[in-house]
Amino acid sequence: MELEVNTFPKLLVRPVVVITTISEKGIPNAAPFSLNTPVSFEPPLYGFSCNPAHDTWKNIQENGEFVVNVAGKDFGDLMHVLETDYPYEDNEIEHAGLTAEKAKMVKPPRIKEAKAWIECKQEKSIELGNHIWIVGRVMAVGVQEESWNDVIAAQDLLGHIAGPTFAVDMKAVNYKRAK
Ligand SMILES: Cc1cc2nc3c(=O)[nH]c(=O)nc-3n(C[C@H](O)[C@H](O)[C@H](O)COP(=O)(O)O)c2cc1C
Repeated sequence: MELEVNTFPKLLVRPVVVITTISEKGIPNAAPFSLNTPVSFEPPLYGFSCNPAHDTWKNIQENGEFVVNVAGKDFGDLMHVLETDYPYEDNEIEHAGLTAEKAKMVKPPRIKEAKAWIECKQEKSIELGNHIWIVGRVMAVGVQEESWNDVIAAQDLLGHIAGPTFAVDMKAVNYKRAK
């Protein structure tokens, strides 16, 4: 079955992250993103695709720092709050009833309730299509102990398919690899 080319993101389930940044006045911002992936092991680099109109991009242009908070399925009900376009200086972490926790290496706070967090400093940003591809160098990472068994517990995580459609209750399995 053939589809319209712009429907292609519906073919790829993507992990949901909530990216936290901070304004010049020190007010935190949080927004969900699913166009995201690790891009390099050494140095450790992470990338995500951001609409240039978003406050997230404004803050990153100002100070180059962000935290990638890995969303659990318990964040599913909060997506509509976190994606709301609140005024620039509104704190979405508070709107969502989540807790801001001090990060180790960057100024934006991490979200305490996230399954894991990846603290980044902007390495490079490139305009690609109608989005900005923002690459961060990973400065510090952490995970909730109860979700960690050498890898993160897949069933805890929230995946995005398209619009209001998400994927939950994924199962981790091991397959033989060449090396
Ligand atoms: C599950 C989900 C995934 C999203 N993924 C992206 C994305 O990858 N890139 C993007 O620019 N916006 C994405 N959005 C939309 C932004 O989160 C939304 O526009 C938000 O209000 C931007 O906030 P900000 O202006 O505070 O940065 C996504 C929204 C949801 C609910």
